[in-house]
Amino acid sequence: MNLGLRGKVVAITGGGGGIGRDCADLFAREGALVAVSDVRSDAAEAVALIARNHGVSTHAARLDVTDPVDVAAYFQTVESTLGPVDVLVNNAGIFQSRSLDELTVADWDRVMDVNLKGVFICSQAALRVMRPRRRGSIVSIASLAGQVGGIHAAANYATSKAGVISLTKSLAKHAGPFGIRVNCVNPGVIDTPMTQPWPPDVLASMARQTPLGRLGRPDEVARVIVFLASDGASFVHGAHVDINGGVHMD
Ligand SMILES: NC(=O)c1ccc[n+]([C@@H]2O[C@H](COP(=O)([O-])OP(=O)(O)OC[C@H]3O[C@@H](n4cnc5c(N)ncnc54)[C@H](O)[C@@H]3O)[C@@H](O)[C@H]2O)c1
Repeated sequence: MNLGLRGKVVAITGGGGGIGRDCADLFAREGALVAVSDVRSDAAEAVALIARNHGVSTHAARLDVTDPVDVAAYFQTVESTLGPVDVLVNNAGIFQSRSLDELTVADWDRVMDVNLKGVFICSQAALRVMRPRRRGSIVSIASLAGQVGGIHAAANYATSKAGVISLTKSLAKHAGPFGIRVNCVNPGVIDTPMTQPWPPDVLASMARQTPLGRLGRPDEVARVIVFLASDGASFVHGAHVDINGGVHMD
């Protein structure tokens, strides 16, 4: 299937991490020009290099998705370097595991800022670029925790991801009439730097409860994201796609 991504400009936030890296790699394989940003600039540079090895132009930058001024400037920089953004992948996120009793207001604000407010800030900035061109696609990474509540994840993390699922629907209602599609994915437990510090018994228990009998790989999430961003998903809009090995069937 021709996904129609050749020459498209794809911006991936938090692109220096596990799922972001595989997204950058797969979009580049499809011939997309890839802008990798991350709060860790060295990680963004390293992932942009992986994408560049597929012969496409790339851009790497430090970007904190919670800073609306930096985010607005970032989209202008990408436009002047690679062209106007066609695809935004809202991938940046932070995780926290803490009991409800111990969760502080500062914990709450930090996770909500990155995981939910960051998606709002970046999506709003992307839509300002996409709307005049009447095309584009946004894919955000929510989570199984946003559907079922925190298991190992703290309440702030689960709530932030539930917010991403809801925000996806509002964005889709707003952007659809401009020809811009908006969707999100709900990964289960995926083997990335985010989950590698989890206690082995928690990981083993999650794998046991999963009908496919294992945790997910980042490329298994990235492939769905690339498809949702592409012309192959031209009538998929406002959707959340579960990528969880069957541990939760919605
Ligand atoms: N790994 C999983 O099991 C899993 C499950 C469901 C959802 N997710 C979500 O997938 C996304 C990617 O996670 P991952 O598993 O690849 O983890 P990861 O930790 O490898 O990647 C997350 C990246 O986000 C970056 N980041 C953190 N704060 C940022 C900020 N303020 N601005 C910009 N970048 C920032 C980090 O530096 C990191 O590179 C996250 O949104 C995460 O919540 C992961």
